[in-house]
Amino acid sequence: MRQNINFIRQFIANPHSVGAVAPSSRHLARALCEPYVRSTGACHVLEVGAGTGAVTRHLGTVLRAEDRLDISELSPVFADALRRDVLTMPCFAEAVAQRRVRLFEGPVQDIIGRQQYDFIVSGLPLTIFTVDQVREILDALRRSLKPGGVFSYFEYIGLRRISGAVMTGSERRRARDVSRFLTQSIATYQFDRRTVLLNLPPAYARHWRFEPSGERDVGGA
Ligand SMILES: C[S@@+](CC[C@H](N)C(=O)[O-])C[C@H]1O[C@@H](n2cnc3c(N)ncnc32)[C@H](O)[C@@H]1O
Repeated sequence: MRQNINFIRQFIANPHSVGAVAPSSRHLARALCEPYVRSTGACHVLEVGAGTGAVTRHLGTVLRAEDRLDISELSPVFADALRRDVLTMPCFAEAVAQRRVRLFEGPVQDIIGRQQYDFIVSGLPLTIFTVDQVREILDALRRSLKPGGVFSYFEYIGLRRISGAVMTGSERRRARDVSRFLTQSIATYQFDRRTVLLNLPPAYARHWRFEPSGERDVGGA
C-alpha cells in the first residue's frame, strides 16, 4: 500500500517521467521476466525504470547465484524506496552482500555503454516521450545488449490508440510519431508478446531481439 501511495505521489509530481498511475502487478512482472527465467548460464540483467520495485521484487526471487542485476532509476525518491524497501528484502540478501546487485540513480543514458547485458527489462514510459527520445533510448539500449540479448518492456493495451483519439495539436502529432515508430520496431524486432489482463490497466509484455533471428512474433502487434 505504501508503495502504491508513493507511486501515485510521484506520478502527480513527475507525470512526464513516471508515465503510469500504478505500479505493475506481479503478473506483469512475471511476464516481463519470462525470457530471463527461461535462460541458462550466467546472465547480466539490467532493469530500467524500476519505480517502487514491482518488477525488481520479482527479479529478486528469480535471480540465480551466478547472475548479476543492475537497476536504473531516474527519481531520487524511488531510488531511496528501492534501497530501503526492496534491496533489504531477504531474497536480495546474498546477491547484495556479494555485490551482484547495483542501483544506479539517475537517467539510464548515463550508464549506457559501461556494460553489456543479456537481458534488459524496461519500465520506461516510452509512449510519453518524443520520438527522438524513444529512438535515442532504444538505440542506446540496443547497443548495451550482447548478441542474442533480449529487450523486454510493457505497453498498456490500446493506450496509443486512445491517446491519438483524445489528444490535440502538437501532443497528438508527438503521440502519432511515437506510435508509428513503435509499430515499425515491433514488426521488426518482436519475437514474443504476452497479454496480461491482471494489471491496472491491462498490458502487453513485449519481448524483442534487435538482430534478425528468423523467429516471428507469436502474438501479433
Ligand atoms: C511506468 S514507471 C514503471 C515503474 C516500475 N517498473 C513498474 O513497472 O511498476 C516508469 C519509471 O521509469 C523511470 N524513468 C523515467 N525515465 C527514466 C530514465 N531516463 N532513466 C531511468 N529511469 C527512468 C521513472 O522515474 C519511473 O520510475
